[in-house]
Amino acid sequence: MSEAKEINSGLEGVVVAETSLSMIDGQNGYLRYRGYDIDDLAQQTSFEEIMYLLWFGKLPNQGELDGLRQRLRSHRKLSPAVRKVMAELPTTGAPIDAMRAAVTAMAMEDPDERSLDAGDIQERAIRMAAAFPTMLAGYLRLREGKDVIEPSTDLGEAANFLYMLTGEKPTDLQANAFNCYLILVAEHSMNASTFSARVTFSTITDLYSAVSAALGCLKGDAHGGANARAMEMLLDIGSVNNADAYIDESLRIKRRLMGIGHRVYRTRDPRAKHLMGFSESVAEQKGDRTWHDIAARIEEITNEHEYFTERRLYPNVEFYSAPLLYTLGIPTDGMPAAFAVSRVVGWTANLMEQLQGMRLIRPQAHYTGPETAEFVPIDQRN
Ligand SMILES: CC(C)(COP(=O)(O)OP(=O)(O)OC[C@H]1O[C@@H](n2cnc3c(N)ncnc32)[C@H](O)[C@@H]1OP(=O)(O)O)[C@@H](O)C(=O)NCCC(=O)NCCS
Repeated sequence: MSEAKEINSGLEGVVVAETSLSMIDGQNGYLRYRGYDIDDLAQQTSFEEIMYLLWFGKLPNQGELDGLRQRLRSHRKLSPAVRKVMAELPTTGAPIDAMRAAVTAMAMEDPDERSLDAGDIQERAIRMAAAFPTMLAGYLRLREGKDVIEPSTDLGEAANFLYMLTGEKPTDLQANAFNCYLILVAEHSMNASTFSARVTFSTITDLYSAVSAALGCLKGDAHGGANARAMEMLLDIGSVNNADAYIDESLRIKRRLMGIGHRVYRTRDPRAKHLMGFSESVAEQKGDRTWHDIAARIEEITNEHEYFTERRLYPNVEFYSAPLLYTLGIPTDGMPAAFAVSRVVGWTANLMEQLQGMRLIRPQAHYTGPETAEFVPIDQRN
């Protein structure tokens, strides 16, 4: 048996890389992208500026931003092969799985799939980020038997996605709300899906494989799947009048409240206030505050209840994302995929960073099985 070593099963506190992309202070509740406070970015930039910041290391000037926008628009349309794959997929599955299939198809038609040239990686990152909204909106419409809407040639990233989803140009408020959402979830240091992408990339495979691995990881309920679970919780509660009873029952049966708690933040997630604001204003504009009001009531209760205050459990980024995305017309099971539309930027920025010092990520396990076992041929086994 191998010598017992201290096991850190959640890798909490383990530092595995250097990064200049984002900095989280979980005790004081702040987040910065390349030094810029998330509040300033959320209130004053476009998602495309954040893409530029994460990929190219600085906030763009107008010319640089226009150049990136042009590149993104030129890659919004899916290739015939990718469209065909998506059209043939079962309509019953998770939209994020459809995106994984589409990414695989993109990889298979790329003659330079395995290139690790920095310029090629950058180009593929842009292509994937440009195609993700088209993939998701297209799949969500296809599975409902609706026509796929071609990407716009003039709308920005956020507005274009909502347009491809609904067929209608979004209001400025809706576009701003989704733009803010995309900014807020673009990057978050060594989160599980980014770690997955980095582990995969460290084997010297291609960018698409690393992004596929990250998509599978993001889907999980303890990560990007939590927005869908949080929405299911709100739907289950149904009315603000039922929120108190739902929490009492959750505590009694030890059911976790979705969108509450975070591995790193011991405060309210700094992104929650922006999402809460947009969740409320978009709901107000739509004339249906049901989902926002339930979420706000849950937060009120958890802020006062000692179970949550003692454990420092506060709303995380998913909590108000759920009512916001739902009110914007994104179905519950499409929410983890909507997260991916943004996080693909963070993943690929991390992979560009990783290219500077590639080393196989390969931890160890402590073996607890028998030291030796006597081999018995199959015809003599009990
Ligand atoms: C995010 C999450 C996985 C972090 O987990 P973690 O750091 O491993 O925390 P733990 O699982 O050790 O939980 C610590 C304590 O808080 C409790 N807790 C954590 N999240 C809770 C929640 N959402 N509702 C109720 N209790 C919760 C745990 O039961 C545990 O209580 P105990 O000490 O009495 O056993 C966890 O808070 C969670 O499951 N949240 C809901 C899912 C979610 O919103 N995920 C998205 C994250 S961005």
